Amino acid sequence: MGGDDQPAVSSAVLITGASSGIGAALARLYAREGLLLALGGRDAGRLETIAADCRRAGAEVVPGVVDVTDRQAMAEWIAAVEARAPLELVIANAGISGGGVGGSADAEQTRRMFAVNVEGMLNTVEPALAPMLERRRGQIAFMSSLAAFRGMPSAPAYCASKAAVRVYGEALRARLRDSGVTISVVCPGFVRTPLTARNPFPMPLLMEPERAAVLIRTGLERKRPQIAFPWPSLLAARMIAALPAGLADRWLARLPVKE
Ligand SMILES: NC(=O)c1ccc[n+]([C@@H]2O[C@H](COP(=O)([O-])OP(=O)(O)OC[C@H]3O[C@@H](n4cnc5c(N)ncnc54)[C@H](OP(=O)(O)O)[C@@H]3O)[C@@H](O)[C@H]2O)c1
Repeated sequence: MGGDDQPAVSSAVLITGASSGIGAALARLYAREGLLLALGGRDAGRLETIAADCRRAGAEVVPGVVDVTDRQAMAEWIAAVEARAPLELVIANAGISGGGVGGSADAEQTRRMFAVNVEGMLNTVEPALAPMLERRRGQIAFMSSLAAFRGMPSAPAYCASKAAVRVYGEALRARLRDSGVTISVVCPGFVRTPLTARNPFPMPLLMEPERAAVLIRTGLERKRPQIAFPWPSLLAARMIAALPAGLADRWLARLPVKE
């Protein structure tokens, strides 16, 4: 038995944004006996519901009711998890979306999006990376999006923040090639979650979060550098990105904006 009369755990998986959507589906998928599962989110009630499911599957759960923008609180939570069991996988998943551009309310939304999606990602990855590099072992998943391949007028700040996540993850992946730490950049298309529920436009090939979680886990097990799906949406994203800028602008300007 481990401390506090808990069964011994040999390794830990940490997922931010585990109280909803893709993160919750990933938490339920990873939950198993002998695993320390660190689950982050701000909504304690929703997080506890997911934690209870994961405990029923045999995992020991360390909930972290922490805002990812709180650098110190994130560092303390991650250090507390590391002290219990070595982190084998970190999924920097917490994120928000919106279509904000211009205007004072939108300006706040834009800054919040960069704070959560970009700084929140850094606040998750940095404290986890140091011990992983020391033991030359571990895996980090950066949750980006297919919206990161080209700035869409429907959601400028969201696309830009997710592009930052993608590019940072790619750069780190190459930089840490021989470090023993594996990096994957995850780029999903549309997934049915509260984040997409407000989208006022049709979402081609909308996927259930449970299916997305299976694709992400399979990609991570295979140490895929980029886990992007579904493939027709990836192809479309790449084609739009390859179009001449003016042509793409004219075509994309017809799309409805996010709230
Ligand atoms: N759904 C899609 O179609 C799609 C496609 C591509 C990429 N993604 C990315 O996938 C990730 C998960 O999105 P989702 O669709 O599953 O959305 P979701 O259901 O809205 O879940 C977002 C999660 O992030 C957490 N979160 C938000 N702000 C936070 C903060 N400041 N501090 C800590 N946690 C915070 C939320 O926790 P609380 O509510 O408890 O704060 C929640 O658990 C996001 O990074 C999103 O950009 C989603």
